[in-house]
Amino acid sequence: EFHKHPKEVSFAQDGLFGKYDRAQLQRGLQVYKEVCSACHSLKYVAFRDLSALGYTEGQVKALSAQFQVPGIDSNTGEATTRPGTPTDYFPSPYPNNVAAAAANNNAIPPDLSLMTKARHDGTAYVYSLLTGYQEPSAELVKKFPASAPGPGLHHNPYFANLNLAMAPPLTSNGQVTYAPGNPEPTIDQMAKDVSAFLAWTAEPKLEKRRQTGWAVLGFLIFATILAYLSKKQIWSAVK
Ligand code: HEM
Repeated sequence: EFHKHPKEVSFAQDGLFGKYDRAQLQRGLQVYKEVCSACHSLKYVAFRDLSALGYTEGQVKALSAQFQVPGIDSNTGEATTRPGTPTDYFPSPYPNNVAAAAANNNAIPPDLSLMTKARHDGTAYVYSLLTGYQEPSAELVKKFPASAPGPGLHHNPYFANLNLAMAPPLTSNGQVTYAPGNPEPTIDQMAKDVSAFLAWTAEPKLEKRRQTGWAVLGFLIFATILAYLSKKQIWSAVK
């Protein structure tokens, strides 16, 4: 009863005719890159996939080179890191889960590629989680005194366990600077933008899927009419 359903929030890609807002996805990528990527990977997204957001080959190359990906030292054969290239995938900032857990109060920051699919109403969930940190309600503390967040945990009624190891990642308006012509980077706007971006990482072919669906539906309607007319034609002599 203290775990809240995600907030009502709408996105450009909602509905049967919705399309991603490319400018928003680019802003979301920026938030991911400047904030979330300090802890989270996007292991199913390759840098080259970003061309779908409107980036040129050169921009993708430059962006990929800003990330360190796992590599092998060609002299010693030892594991090391190297700058990314367009065919690499968004890496985890940690060499392994032990290091990830050690840096985050024993919780491993999950990969975010499919997060909006993994959680119910996922896009709204990510938005709600990012904007939902608050003090535990007096009612909750009264009923379940043990539910107050322990050391290193943060209360968030949108998180199923109510307390999570991730501190609020978006804490101030203007934390990220958007290019001119974009909305003000308020916490709310940044949360929306990164949620939209994570919806795209989880379903980059959303628009294609819907487009194909409409074409299939159109064909089926056409074929049904045709079948009906032929049936009438074939049986026209029979009274
Ligand atoms: C968990 C999103 C930044 C550390 C999560 C979850 C999401 C998320 C969706 C999973 C919640 C669930 O399991 O339902 C984001 C986004 C970020 C961001 C969108 C940027 C805006 C960060 C940063 C850190 C971090 C900067 C580290 C300083 C963690 C940890 C968990 C987590 C440790 C696991 C929490 C637990 O299970 O208790 N994050 N995160 N996150 N995140 Fe982040």
